[in-house]
Amino acid sequence: MATKLSFTFQFPPEKSSKAFQRNPNLALSNLNHCDAFGFSRKSSGFRGQLSLKVNALQGEVTQSTNSETTLLSPTTLPSSSKLVLVVGATGGVGQLVVAALLKRNIKSRLLLRNPEKAVSLFGNQDEEKLQIYIGDTRNPADLDPSMFEGVTHVICCTGTTAFPSKRWDGDNTPERVDWEGVRNLITALPSSLKRVILVSSVGVTKFNELPWSIMNLFGVLKYKKKGEDFLRESGLPFTIIRAGRLTDGPYTSYDLNTLLQATAGQRRAVVIGQGDKLVGEVSRLVVAEACIQALDIEFTQGKIYEINSVEGEGPGTDPEKWQQLFKTPQA
Ligand SMILES: NC(=O)c1ccc[n+]([C@@H]2O[C@H](COP(=O)([O-])OP(=O)(O)OC[C@H]3O[C@@H](n4cnc5c(N)ncnc54)[C@H](OP(=O)(O)O)[C@@H]3O)[C@@H](O)[C@H]2O)c1
Repeated sequence: MATKLSFTFQFPPEKSSKAFQRNPNLALSNLNHCDAFGFSRKSSGFRGQLSLKVNALQGEVTQSTNSETTLLSPTTLPSSSKLVLVVGATGGVGQLVVAALLKRNIKSRLLLRNPEKAVSLFGNQDEEKLQIYIGDTRNPADLDPSMFEGVTHVICCTGTTAFPSKRWDGDNTPERVDWEGVRNLITALPSSLKRVILVSSVGVTKFNELPWSIMNLFGVLKYKKKGEDFLRESGLPFTIIRAGRLTDGPYTSYDLNTLLQATAGQRRAVVIGQGDKLVGEVSRLVVAEACIQALDIEFTQGKIYEINSVEGEGPGTDPEKWQQLFKTPQA
């Protein structure tokens, strides 16, 4: 049943007084802003950098989830030295990654195809905290080196549907996105990066076996594995997070406020595995949190993990609990 929530999101005092103000017309003001920055239109859509300044992060939303415990509760942490590039930031996991980075005051740069979607999700943000670059990972020309300047970490959550759908329009198929797009991105990334996190899927090593072969009818698992292998062989410091079937979100018609209030309901506990043996589902909130936690856990570098959500109390955002989970994966 839908519950109506009222809330206030507090930023650190110096930020809220200097850079943030209330603005109920987010989408409109941002889109005007976007035009003012003069994107050059290419075949794949806009290309260029969009800096979103000044925001509104106070309001009233309607949420249809069990909201007893929030995984992404607002905090006022000092700003971090990281600059995290989020690829696929408007997607289900991607939008939660961005919300969690904003909550932690970690600077992010988003590589995405649709600025309107970004505006409706994230509103106007201080460009010191969030920058937007427009690009399509299928087009190597969109992945200009300037996009990666200053980036310290990358979280890639791109994907498309496993079976033909409207989201394949324009040849946006698993082969093009999960293989060629990932390959293009990894090829373009600078070797100076501290970590690249790739969100992949359980079952990629068994795409010829039932039941995975059904999911793989149009190649999604095979192409995700190709993307994984390319990253593993790239020499970049990587971590691969293979998700089970995703639950919670995407919150496509909502906004950052809603994202920050999202919950994983009763299934807040996390199971981490290795060896592609886990079968089950996982909350998008948990996948997003796992990506962010892995950035700071040194021993996750060069490793591949599977992840599921189960009923019970979870690690929330506690780094020690996540460290423990990654340290003792189920084999
Ligand atoms: N669904 C599942 O049960 C499941 C299970 C295991 C693993 N996974 C994987 O988990 C990851 C996250 O899944 P999700 O459901 O949260 O993702 P999602 O909502 O499908 O979002 C995918 C993101 O990729 C972006 N994207 C697609 N094609 C692109 C392109 N050519 N260039 C640049 N960006 C592109 C989309 O941009 P637009 O917003 O512009 O479309 C969107 O931001 C994906 O890799 C998915 O395959 C999913």
